[in-house]
Amino acid sequence: MIERSLVLLKPDAVQRCFVGEIITRFERAGLKMVGMKMVWVDKDFSKEHYAEHVEKGFYPGLESMITEGPVVAMVLEGVEAISTIRKMVGATEPKAAAPGTIRGDFAHVSYGYADQQKIGVKNLIHASANAEDAEKEVALWFDAKEMHSYKTVHDMHIL
Ligand code: RTP
Ligand code: MG
Repeated sequence: MIERSLVLLKPDAVQRCFVGEIITRFERAGLKMVGMKMVWVDKDFSKEHYAEHVEKGFYPGLESMITEGPVVAMVLEGVEAISTIRKMVGATEPKAAAPGTIRGDFAHVSYGYADQQKIGVKNLIHASANAEDAEKEVALWFDAKEMHSYKTVHDMHIL
């Protein structure tokens, strides 16, 4: 039940200087950072990461958004971490994301507006959707050597 998830703070989160704010939320929830780095994604890597979306109409906007600046990539670990993180991230469309979630608190744009402007939906963060995606995404983004096993103070409460 201890899971690992890939989390990306997308270029809009980095540009808006919300890196610390967002990481703090995960730390407060007791999730453990087992890997972290800054990466400037190129178009080829975007197509690998977003393989399921490459043929979709919104992909060009998504690609320009994810390649427009560096992202902060993390692997977070915790009890049922994948669904816990998705809950904290909120709905994909910022307009629909609940207050208290990362997307609901820090963004407000709608699909309709983004499509009309032909831009990507800037929603600050990516988090693995399920166990299968998490395994693939962690392997795509991180080498085994870039991830670390260690104890946090939270471990004494869950082990
Ligand atoms: P993510 O993969 O980034 O964690 O987001 P997600 O699972 O909540 O959403 P997903 O359906 O996987 O979409 C990936 C990203 O593509 C952009 N998007 N735009 N205009 C649109 O209809 C649309 N749909 C998705 C968003 O940036 C979304 O995070
Ligand atoms: Mg997704």
